[in-house]
Amino acid sequence: MKIKKVGVIGCGLMGSGIAQVCAQSGYDTTVSEINDELLNKGLGSIKNILTKNVEKGKMQKADADATLARLKGTTSINDFSACDLVIEVAAEKMELKKKIFADLDRITPKHAILASNTSCLSIIEIASATKRLTQVMGMHFFNPVPIMKPVELVRSIATSDQTMDIAREFSKSIGKEIVVAKDTPGFIVNALLIPYLFDAMRMLEYGVSTREDIDAGIRLGLNHPMGPLTLADFVGLDTLYFIGCAMYDEFKDPKYAAPTVLKKMVTAGWLGKKSGKGFYDYK
Ligand code: CAA
Repeated sequence: MKIKKVGVIGCGLMGSGIAQVCAQSGYDTTVSEINDELLNKGLGSIKNILTKNVEKGKMQKADADATLARLKGTTSINDFSACDLVIEVAAEKMELKKKIFADLDRITPKHAILASNTSCLSIIEIASATKRLTQVMGMHFFNPVPIMKPVELVRSIATSDQTMDIAREFSKSIGKEIVVAKDTPGFIVNALLIPYLFDAMRMLEYGVSTREDIDAGIRLGLNHPMGPLTLADFVGLDTLYFIGCAMYDEFKDPKYAAPTVLKKMVTAGWLGKKSGKGFYDYK
């Protein structure tokens, strides 16, 4: 099966990036949001990035126009009825994802592959809402999607070789480098990232150093583009809190338990860059 039409459910930070990359790579792409306001915001951010790329000389105007022409926004899941692959990028709530996958199972063609961009939830549990266990998998992208090279392809105990092969070919065609992981909370990257970011937060909490020096130590000492507290703000503190809780639930290992400072900040609505305040101020 060759993928021609792609669907993306969710047009926030990650969903809009995934939709942009798919449309840019030549796929007819339908992207959905729960209302017109969020849809227009997401599509607007894609247009802005493409316009900037043209201004910087990174892209021809004709290519940016063709990308936008391949991109269709919708607020109805029924518009995914002709998709060969749908990538779900909805909120990290199991019941919501199961509802979406049950709907997609009903609406999409029998051959379609259904993928979730979840960063920590069980793929087989999401797949259990469908009657096509062999065609459900994880495709976990990284923020900012147009810039970050990897995609984690996550194989549940039921995902077939054929589904993995098609996903590999598709991922390469959109310019991604593939890493493959089992269906275990956090897969590869978040299983290592979450304890690291939580340790940096505890280090700040215990007064080992300042936020600036913790970040500078890692940036300069390990040559990372961002220090851990800047990265935490960039990813979103609510997202990290949620991933940590899901991983702790599964493994009961204290290294995944959210630090008190993180819990307090999320409760205060300090969610990082997106809310204007996190470990740093962004106003
Ligand atoms: N969308 C698209 N392009 C973006 C962007 C965005 N959100 N942010 C930056 N860019 C582009 C810029 O336009 C710029 O492009 P040009 O070189 O063509 O001008 C390029 O990226 C570099 O940007 P800047 O010069 O402004 O800044 P930078 O050099 O610091 O790079 C960065 C920005 C790419 C975000 C870099 O800091 C970085 O790689 N940070 C780490 C990001 C990371 O670790 N992401 C993974 C998070 S974990 C995750 O996503 C998974 C999960 O489940 C939690």
